Amino acid sequence: MMQDPSIPVNKKGVLTSFLTGQPMPIPEKDNLGKCRSVSEFEKLNRIGEGTYGIVYRARDTRNGEVVALKKMRMEREKDGLPLSAIREITLLLNCQHENIVAIKEVVVGRSLESVFLVMEYCEQDLASILDNMPNPFTEAQVKCIGLQVFQGLAYLHKHYYIHRDLKVSNLLMTDRGCVKIADFGLARRFGEPIKPMTPRVVTLWYRAPELLLNSPTHTTAIDIWAAGCILGELLLHKPLLPGRTEVQQLDMIIELLGTPHAAIWPEMDQLPALQNFTLKSQPYNNLKNKFPYLSPAGLRLLNFLFMYDPAKRATAEECLQSSYFREQPLPCDSKLMPSFPQHRNMKSSRREMNQQDQRQQESQSNDGLSDLLQLPKRNRVD
Ligand SMILES: Nc1ncnc2c1ncn2[C@@H]1O[C@H](COP(=O)(O)OP(=O)(O)O)[C@@H](O)[C@H]1O
Ligand SMILES: [Mg+2]
Repeated sequence: MMQDPSIPVNKKGVLTSFLTGQPMPIPEKDNLGKCRSVSEFEKLNRIGEGTYGIVYRARDTRNGEVVALKKMRMEREKDGLPLSAIREITLLLNCQHENIVAIKEVVVGRSLESVFLVMEYCEQDLASILDNMPNPFTEAQVKCIGLQVFQGLAYLHKHYYIHRDLKVSNLLMTDRGCVKIADFGLARRFGEPIKPMTPRVVTLWYRAPELLLNSPTHTTAIDIWAAGCILGELLLHKPLLPGRTEVQQLDMIIELLGTPHAAIWPEMDQLPALQNFTLKSQPYNNLKNKFPYLSPAGLRLLNFLFMYDPAKRATAEECLQSSYFREQPLPCDSKLMPSFPQHRNMKSSRREMNQQDQRQQESQSNDGLSDLLQLPKRNRVD
């Protein structure tokens, strides 16, 4: 349980009066606004191996329900919630779909800095499953997961959202085999015209070539590329393109798919990074060698997901129509997905640690919900 709510609000809980410009205390009754207090939740254990936030499994003491509690990052914000937190909350409130993690409510701690997302609890994420399962998924299971990811993505993209950080640790799975896309901290809405956005998004292993080459525009195609990497990873039972640096990541992509050129990707020559950088030369598409047992329909789908030209890359809707999902072995029923021991709740995942190398490492030695209230401010690559 949280600290005693009768303790006075700390210095963060002070507002500046518009009238006098002087600090004014927040009246007791307005401390929490309309939100419930996080003290109504009992910490069970920490589940989030996330890079920026901490996620707990917690019990809502009001009804006994087990939920996931994610503390929103506050960055260097002085006035209220950072944009990334507002974006994540707004997106989740706007998106209701079986394959997108459901938000239940937003709760607050005593400090103005403490805002928590209460989400439905999912027993696993795909990163911890892949880390801990001894045998690869069967192809029928891969198809079942893949279909659900494309369904979630089709919904998101239809609502003009780009996730921008799709990877196995951001795909949750319930004990009933239902896959949920999560972690919308980097998500953006896009419209016409697409505003230039910063290129340093999406964990390296899942990053599309146009991002690696500093394309100023981000489209839904960057999620599709990441979904291709995820599908490949599920089939191979190991990361498909585990580059350590941006240059190595590009080299690995070229090794797998061949060097792109203007005939297949006309806008390529205008990309900023290619003005003074020459790509390695490799004329072959090696997908078939990498996936020797995959059917022609499976290879067609992968090739469609890995089109260099983002404008030609598959859409989520097109992926759902792929004959790969209609041929033997058919996707298994999600209810028949195996359930896995919850390793995630016991130890940290090597995979996630590897991925953290690319980002800011941070100490997560503190344990206990009350520590959530004192987390240092963090910078997220954004
Ligand atoms: N609703 C949830 N149910 C169960 N586990 C979750 C839930 N949300 C997040 N997690 C776990 O916490 C981890 C980090 O959460 P995430 O939203 O991805 O934040 P971060 O920005 O830190 O990556 C996820 O990889 C997953 O293991
Ligand atoms: Mg995450």
